[in-house]
Amino acid sequence: MNEVTNEWFQIGKADELITELEQSGGIKELVIKDKKIVLTYHQGKFGALNNKCNHMGGPLSKGKLKNGCIECPWHYWRFNHQTGESVSSEASRHFAPNAGAVPQYTLKVDNEMLFINLVESKRIPATYSMSGNLSREPKREEGKIRVLGLSTTAMDSEYPRFSTSEELLKSALNQGEKELNIEAKFISLSNLNFRHCEGFYSKSERACTWPCSITKFDPADEMKIIYENLVHWADVVLVSTPIRWGNASSLYYKMAERLNSVQNQITLKNKVLIKNKVVGLIITGGQDNIQSVAGQMLTFFGELGFTFPAFPFVAHSLGWSSENMAQNMDYVQKSEYLHQESFELLQRSTQLCQTLINLENKTISMDRVAPRQSPR
Ligand code: FES
Repeated sequence: MNEVTNEWFQIGKADELITELEQSGGIKELVIKDKKIVLTYHQGKFGALNNKCNHMGGPLSKGKLKNGCIECPWHYWRFNHQTGESVSSEASRHFAPNAGAVPQYTLKVDNEMLFINLVESKRIPATYSMSGNLSREPKREEGKIRVLGLSTTAMDSEYPRFSTSEELLKSALNQGEKELNIEAKFISLSNLNFRHCEGFYSKSERACTWPCSITKFDPADEMKIIYENLVHWADVVLVSTPIRWGNASSLYYKMAERLNSVQNQITLKNKVLIKNKVVGLIITGGQDNIQSVAGQMLTFFGELGFTFPAFPFVAHSLGWSSENMAQNMDYVQKSEYLHQESFELLQRSTQLCQTLINLENKTISMDRVAPRQSPR
């Protein structure tokens, strides 16, 4: 490692740098002795900070200079361009309290030339707090198999309407609570207020975090309820969706995109958050495309780490030429077959999950009694 001494390095002619900075939004990256530095100029004053953001190391020089603050391009945290101290902006939807301070460098103008001293101030790490404790290690609590019924049907929660897929889901949960040894919970995505994915992954894979950056910044974002239940609480998830233009519901996709933060942990850190959990699907629609919807959803949940029972979905549609929705609702409501099939899907899912849990427990106890290998 190169020891950085109390030396001054000449950056360039001050007035030329001012002209250049004024043309580039007041912000520029410098690399001196392998150190990446963000140089700024605002209202007659230069500033120089370490280029690495206090949050996930985003490149500050690629951000914007706003009112004397550098705004990180990844998740928009702000730092005073001269002192490096974090600046919380209540107005920002990405408000980050206690974001610490980024190391700062001393600058001087001598004989019209700008100099920098590479001895940097101490980085003060962020200590922002996040609502809940999502980042804890997933660990199954003892007890009955816990089943989450997740309806993705879009509707106005103040004026709920009849949904065929939700009807089958609720019926399966009710029967399951009576006849199976389970604990059940129902969540409708339409009752949750959550933001869509803002594509941090497209900026850099490291910008997509677990827990999701949006959840950390926005206490009002209710996707945390889904994260908590999928990652930490549920053993079995029964997901229901209508068919909309040959696809699953738009709310399902909105949720799926926010679950990038779970899947990315596997690709980026080899960290599997979903283990020994089972998914079953209930898909209904006035018109067709069941196999395509099921195939897409099975791929997605499989990529998250979920397992599926044999015959992993129950589905119903009246077919392409049918436009009679009232008849469809009536059909589903009265169909003993579909209600029974939905319950049996839950039963298969629960049985498979119990087998996976037993297998895991057996493996753990065998590990405990396995003889130690003697050193060769
Ligand atoms: S705000 Fe800078 S990396 Fe997240």
